Amino acid sequence: MISASTLEVPAQMTPRERLLLFALARASCPKRVLEIGSCEGGSTLLLHRALEPSAALVVIEPTPRWTADTRGELEPRAVLVEGRSPAALPLASHRAGGRFDFVFVDGDHTAAGVEGDLIGITTYLEPGATVLLHDAHYWGVSDGIARVLALGVGYADAGLLAVEPTPEVGRVEAGRPVIWGGLRMLRFSPKPLRP
Ligand SMILES: C[S@@+](CC[C@H](N)C(=O)[O-])C[C@H]1O[C@@H](n2cnc3c(N)ncnc32)[C@H](O)[C@@H]1O
Repeated sequence: MISASTLEVPAQMTPRERLLLFALARASCPKRVLEIGSCEGGSTLLLHRALEPSAALVVIEPTPRWTADTRGELEPRAVLVEGRSPAALPLASHRAGGRFDFVFVDGDHTAAGVEGDLIGITTYLEPGATVLLHDAHYWGVSDGIARVLALGVGYADAGLLAVEPTPEVGRVEAGRPVIWGGLRMLRFSPKPLRP
């Protein structure tokens, strides 16, 4: 269960975001979890520690930087697919043994990348799946989410659940301030097919 040390992981997330990710993964009791973007594996450790022993955890990351200790804790449950989303999604779903009911997106932070991830995963999501996006304050991530919501492909927006901004003071991109952080939740609720 949770203790202060549970949240002490090499994650690129604030303490509040770590707590929320852990709590949502724990409370949702997902069966198949996908993480897009793991880097040093801190967020992967949080997911792993939150899940029931029977849950599957698949990670897509082109350049993993897991230490031997991190790998030792994550394996054999966490399956690492060394590739990029969305191209690696079919293999990730295959390795999970089915569709995902919980996804943590923290990979390509460009608007096109987020759009590609969110559209790409729809094929591999259970109805009602929870999709969490980190760095939702970042303009690329928020623009990508907005584009996908406008397409109406089955996502309902639950909004920002972790609201704390992590600004990069003085940095501006495309005329927009660079602000990291923020966890936004989408729920995948595809419309039932008409008879
Ligand atoms: C912000 S870091 C992830 C941090 C990690 N989730 C954490 O909180 O500790 C972003 C990671 O996404 C990876 N990445 C970039 N593009 C990707 C893609 N298309 N698919 C999967 N991972 C990607 C990068 O290699 C990098 O390691």
